[in-house]
Amino acid sequence: MLSSSMNDDNEDVRRYWNQEACGTGLPIVGEVPDLSREWFERIESYRYGLEPFIHSVAQFTRHHGKRLLEIGVGAGTDHLQWARAGLDCHGVDLTERAIEVTRARLALYGLTSNLQRIDAEILPFPDQSFDLVYSWGVIHHAEHPERIIAEVRRVLKPDGLFIGMLYGRHSLVALKLWVKYGLLRGRPDRTLTDVVAEHMESPGTKAYTIREVRGLFSRFSQVSATPLMTAYDRRRIPSWLTALVPDRWGWFICIHAVK
Ligand SMILES: C[S@@+](CC[C@H](N)C(=O)[O-])C[C@H]1O[C@@H](n2cnc3c(N)ncnc32)[C@H](O)[C@@H]1O
Repeated sequence: MLSSSMNDDNEDVRRYWNQEACGTGLPIVGEVPDLSREWFERIESYRYGLEPFIHSVAQFTRHHGKRLLEIGVGAGTDHLQWARAGLDCHGVDLTERAIEVTRARLALYGLTSNLQRIDAEILPFPDQSFDLVYSWGVIHHAEHPERIIAEVRRVLKPDGLFIGMLYGRHSLVALKLWVKYGLLRGRPDRTLTDVVAEHMESPGTKAYTIREVRGLFSRFSQVSATPLMTAYDRRRIPSWLTALVPDRWGWFICIHAVK
């Protein structure tokens, strides 16, 4: 087996996310000291203001006592909720900065987790190690998402649960990118796949149809893939118009998959 440090396919992705942990930009945190309690609280309230449905998808407290692996902890906002809910927490991320921020964040509240900087395409855990694997908005950034999903299945115990979110291609977010970078630049032939890969966060970001998500998780025994209309879809579109658009055109596809 390759060691994770030997896989540099995600080096551009790592460089992008290492500049700043996800969701911690200046417009969100303002001029408060880095890693202070107020800094973290601003990040938390901004996140759950925009994505309040994370609580109903993850149901943090329902999993009390379970052994959890979170893939792509980012700034650790959800990881803190898992630790608060009394799970035995393990977390990984591609970047040093995410691990540093998440470690500092848990310590501030007297909580701990086993955190490691690794590429989740190769997970350094034995088979059947976890009751629950969680990953919100991460796997679509990897060069080989299917490898991460195979690893998730490997490290889950029998009947273990994956909870996560992947981006949806047939969404208003992807359509707005196409209008901006395809249509308005005289390149209507550009595909949704192409504009998402080039213009959404780190290089090579992927976005899926529901059918493709089901395909990615086809080796799991039960899979639900539920699209959700988000604030990112509604942004800069009149509310009367977004009210007419069904959830299946949403940017987030929330997934529950039983091994
Ligand atoms: C959009 S952020 C999401 C972070 C967090 N889950 C959240 O919802 O705020 C993506 C995170 O995934 C991490 N990531 C991307 N590819 C990864 C990989 N192959 N292995 C581990 N982490 C990865 C990035 O470093 C970054 O912290």
